[in-house]
Amino acid sequence: MASELLYGGDYNPEQYSPAVWAEDVRLMKAARVNTVTVGVFAWSSLEPNEGVFTFDWLDDVLDLLHVNGIGVILATPTASPPPWFSLAHPEALPVTADGVRLLHGSRDTYNPAAEAYRHAARRIATEMGRRYGTHPALRMWHVHNEYGTVSFGPVVDAEFRLWLERKYGALPRLNDVWNTAFWSQRYGRWAEVFAPQATQYLGNPAQLLDFRRFAAELLLTAFAEQADILRSLSSGIPVTTNFMLPTWLHYDQWAFAEAEDLVSIDDYPSEPGVDGHAQAAFSGDLARSLAGNRPWLLMEQATNLIYRSDAMLVRSTQDMIRSSLQYIARGSLGALFFQWRAPRTGAEVFHSSMVPHSGEDTDQFRGTVQLGELLAGLSELAPEGPPGPVAENRVAILWYPEAWWAADTRGLPRADLDYSGLVHQVHRALWLAGVGVDFIHPDQDLTGYDVVLLPLAIPLSDTQAGAVEDYVGSGGRLVAWYFSGTTDENFSVVPAGYGGQLARVLGIRVQMVHPVDGVLTLTDGSTAGRWSEHLDLRGAETVAGYSGGTLDGKPALTRHSFGRGTAHYVSTHLDDDALRGHLVAVLADAGISGRAGDGLEVIDRRVGDTRFSIALNHTDAPGTVAVYGTDLVTGHSHAGPAVIPAGGYLIVRA
Ligand code: GAL
Repeated sequence: MASELLYGGDYNPEQYSPAVWAEDVRLMKAARVNTVTVGVFAWSSLEPNEGVFTFDWLDDVLDLLHVNGIGVILATPTASPPPWFSLAHPEALPVTADGVRLLHGSRDTYNPAAEAYRHAARRIATEMGRRYGTHPALRMWHVHNEYGTVSFGPVVDAEFRLWLERKYGALPRLNDVWNTAFWSQRYGRWAEVFAPQATQYLGNPAQLLDFRRFAAELLLTAFAEQADILRSLSSGIPVTTNFMLPTWLHYDQWAFAEAEDLVSIDDYPSEPGVDGHAQAAFSGDLARSLAGNRPWLLMEQATNLIYRSDAMLVRSTQDMIRSSLQYIARGSLGALFFQWRAPRTGAEVFHSSMVPHSGEDTDQFRGTVQLGELLAGLSELAPEGPPGPVAENRVAILWYPEAWWAADTRGLPRADLDYSGLVHQVHRALWLAGVGVDFIHPDQDLTGYDVVLLPLAIPLSDTQAGAVEDYVGSGGRLVAWYFSGTTDENFSVVPAGYGGQLARVLGIRVQMVHPVDGVLTLTDGSTAGRWSEHLDLRGAETVAGYSGGTLDGKPALTRHSFGRGTAHYVSTHLDDDALRGHLVAVLADAGISGRAGDGLEVIDRRVGDTRFSIALNHTDAPGTVAVYGTDLVTGHSHAGPAVIPAGGYLIVRA
């Protein structure tokens, strides 16, 4: 699609006068900005009253950008319905799990199940599609912004019942799957079933899991409606919506990715230094995987100050540049930001921007220019024509929303079972070891990978568990973590021991789980914590046992030869170093070793038939990496070890 890397960010001209627009364009050109996202949250400026549209200002902005060579990603503004809408359609306001109806005053104040909202969203999308579908500045449609609103209340109850009826057909089946005989929850009529609003005590986990599936599908339907309209009113313009990674669990990103023409993400690492770059690597790997190993787009990141609940995180220009390269190396078509110009006031008045409050004569704006100039010289990394595969990784981590939702259920043996945290820990260990990783859904084909990692995958269907068995049986290497495979997809515990769905392939039986406080020691010297399990070996051998405590002498880490492959089990929460050591040993068995590591990363990227290596030094000391090819920035040739200064980078065409 592109022949240049996209560079720019969210642009909100509706907040400024035309004199500022002219100034913006001057600064955009100075910074080599070639793409801006317009329209996000602009609904009240585009439709100030029901059915009354004021597109003139947007016409002028798009024309102005176009004559200055700046492309537009045009967003439908449906993440923020205007106040008139909320007043006219109170049933379309979101209701919290506690039954509180939220009023206007922030953003995302909508109920995705309300027909009035969906109708209004389709109407504004249609108007925008008609008006701008053939505008020469249009590069992409950006539907909504970060779908994520989950609502409760009567409108949602009605939709949830219909969804359940479609899924279960009749109530006896639902009663059976949810085991409603427990605590006298048996339903006799559909009207008795509600979305799981606040309850007196623990709710029914099977009901909660179904509600999350329903809520995710609802958001996807809302997206798909707009996407269909926009596709029908423009030709060949890709449609996307931006995922908030990695913290949002309201939606099924795999399903969304299938419905999009291009995956796009927003990413705001929360840690300083090397840890923040590990987070960016995680998000980039996830985005590429969601995109099916094809290019995707970083729709938003922050230039310098990153929002956090306590103190904002300060990011240097060098960090921003290396993060941008991390995403591009993993397949992003460019680096876009929230936001172009810092607002005069408003909810996020102090969020960082490409043009800061202090203006042009600042290190921040000079950083904006520096990144723009760098990316302008890297157009070889922007694929032209049909996009091909980006990476060639041999290791995959299973990642799917049901696993996250299940671990997020109340009433588990430990309240802080942290699915996302464990997946991040596993990814980080591999990133620090210099090993490239993909993410994969358990319904996808596992057989392309030498090693598959299965962290805290509590619910697994028979089909998914069967696919894991087949994978190992035919020669794959599996590492599964504690509590995985304990329930089926409906959160029903599989009989005869926890982890029952994986018992055969792992060659173990979990008699009982033992959550622990404090440090656990294993016989190989590893330290662990939080969780342990009483295992019986049923064919597996012990790799390391528990040392001391209630489970003294019992297996903690196991290995099982199954068919032509091997299945490893980790029954406790290993500390970072122990986890890395364990994984490196498993990978070594598979003949996989890392490149660089410990904050010095080398990412291999394919663009068509051409291969690039992007080496990034996130540490405070110079580092040496082996690269071969031509440096895209300096034109030098590299044929082996190259020194990258602290905080520096190297981009090489093989
Ligand atoms: C994103 C959102 C932006 C802005 C940004 C900074 O999640 O899409 O609109 O709010 O966060 O907080």
